Amino acid sequence: MSRIAFAALAASLAATPALAADGETLFNTQCKMCHGGSVMGPKLEGVAGAKIAARPDFNYSPGLKAKADGTWTDANLDAFLKAPTTFAPGTRMMISVQPDDNRKAIIGYLKTLK
Ligand code: HEC
Repeated sequence: MSRIAFAALAASLAATPALAADGETLFNTQCKMCHGGSVMGPKLEGVAGAKIAARPDFNYSPGLKAKADGTWTDANLDAFLKAPTTFAPGTRMMISVQPDDNRKAIIGYLKTLK
């Protein structure tokens, strides 16, 4: 591999944590007040890839429970965050995240929450 190609690869790898950091800032300002251990919303550790509405320690709305046979794939997280009440009519979470890039960054950050 040429030195230049290596430098480009290193730069693109270095860009990945930057995306997660962006997502972290967005999460801290738009999500954490309800999802950072408050009783308002369920904890989101491990939510990416998990079953929808599956935490035993949270009392989900019937609207979100109706989706409980699904999984929080990237596509489902994106659809929910774009238009929660369209994805799960009757959900108690009503905030929507725009634009597309912000949802992408937040979903990237959710995957780092274990
Ligand atoms: C005003 C409080 C509030 C804010 C702000 C909020 N949420 Fe929620 N969230 C909720 C509630 C309440 C639920 C449960 C909804 C239900 O039961 O219908 C929920 C559910 C979820 C779920 C489904 C969890 C599961 O266990 O299935 C995800 C994912 C989620 N929120 C992500 C986010 C993200 C990402 C943000 C920031 C962009 C955010 N939420 C902002 C209150 C909030």
